[in-house]
Amino acid sequence: MELQKPRGTRDFLFKEMKERKLVENTMREVFETYGYQEIKTPIFEDLSLFTLKSGEGIIEEIYHFQDKGGRDLALRPELTAPVARIYLNQLQKAPKPIKMYYFGSCFRYERPQAGRFRQFWQLGCELIGGKSPDSEAEIIAMAAHCLEELKLKDYQIHLGNLGILRGILSQDSISAEHQDQIMAMIDKGDAEELEKLLNGIEIPETSKNILLELIGMRGHQEIINNVKNILNDYPDALKSLEELESLLIMLKAFGFTDYIVNLGIARGLDYYTGTVFEIYVEGLGAQKQISGGGTYNLIEVFGGEKVESTGFAFGFDRVMEALKIQNPSIPGDERVDVFVAPISAEMKLNAFEIAQNLRKCGISTDVELVGRKLKKILSFAANSGAKFVVLIGARELEEGKVTIKDMTSGEQEQVSIEMVSDVLLNQINNEE
Ligand code: HAM
Repeated sequence: MELQKPRGTRDFLFKEMKERKLVENTMREVFETYGYQEIKTPIFEDLSLFTLKSGEGIIEEIYHFQDKGGRDLALRPELTAPVARIYLNQLQKAPKPIKMYYFGSCFRYERPQAGRFRQFWQLGCELIGGKSPDSEAEIIAMAAHCLEELKLKDYQIHLGNLGILRGILSQDSISAEHQDQIMAMIDKGDAEELEKLLNGIEIPETSKNILLELIGMRGHQEIINNVKNILNDYPDALKSLEELESLLIMLKAFGFTDYIVNLGIARGLDYYTGTVFEIYVEGLGAQKQISGGGTYNLIEVFGGEKVESTGFAFGFDRVMEALKIQNPSIPGDERVDVFVAPISAEMKLNAFEIAQNLRKCGISTDVELVGRKLKKILSFAANSGAKFVVLIGARELEEGKVTIKDMTSGEQEQVSIEMVSDVLLNQINNEE
């Protein structure tokens, strides 16, 4: 019988896990620098948490099941809805804004391909109860800060505001359902289907043309003035454009101006209301979006009061892929700093004791567990990346001593047992 992992999932081995941990920790540090605190939510939730806003249509994209008690559950496809649930359950009275971040796996029943998995990880955050666009500016600057810290190159942060497109559609009394369908088509980038959809609903020709013109617009600050004239007859859309203009001014104060204004961002999830943004890395091909987010009204949809919320999530696997393409060798392969080797089998228990002492001093240490001869132990230790081997011999031990072998230079020195951890700590720190 061949044992296989489920389609769209991956195993991560040692080196890859080490690299992932490093990137995860770098991002966590940035989030915490901005005052975000970590939360953890269940891997599965009530299915209704995800269908309430998005409708039954989303079920196609979700892993869902009934448990033994007949409850309809779903593996979470994302974490914004769970965080909105936490807010309603426990945090409504907390001082605002509330800044939360999370790192966890998500599940989507999608056709697997490069950069698109059925189990993937998101590192993201939600800022609840801050004002727009102040909060949005800080959050976008933080996303850019993370990528700077990771030294990722060639990424583009695209900014838009859904209120512009929705403002036009609402003024023309287009139903919320049709609006969501239009947004989904724009998000897919399916121009033909979008035209078909627009032709099938009653939307004035002028509005339709403006809509099609806007979604193709990309640029910088100058876009705002160009679009202002076009939107003269659409007061709500104009208000959203002004909000986008204020966001750009605030971003400058936060030290981030390297954005692209993109009025064609529609986002795949339909709880967004105002500012939206996506980050792309060209080298990744079709799944080039490494992050997405914006301002949303999920809490209100769940029956809470209106509280402005904004957030985003990095697709962690895509960030890893982008980093790997740009820098194929992130960290090294080392497992431990020290290997404790008994010279003969009789020294085994002494080796265990010494290894344990080193570990308690915070030195990463391995000890021989296979009962090999010294030559084999040394070659195994060298392959494991150990910088030092501590050799335990009977005669030396009687004098209260062991030998430290530097695996890089080959030099050996005898030290007393009491001093071995100090000497090793010193040398390891010197090397770093
Ligand atoms: P999302 O754009 O659906 O937004 O997902 C965020 C990121 O997760 C995407 O930009 C992408 O990098 C990654 N991603 C999505 N699907 C997959 C997949 N199948 N395989 C690998 N990576 C994937 C959200 O989920 C929102 N909850 C983000 C947010 C937070 N908005 C406000 N707050």
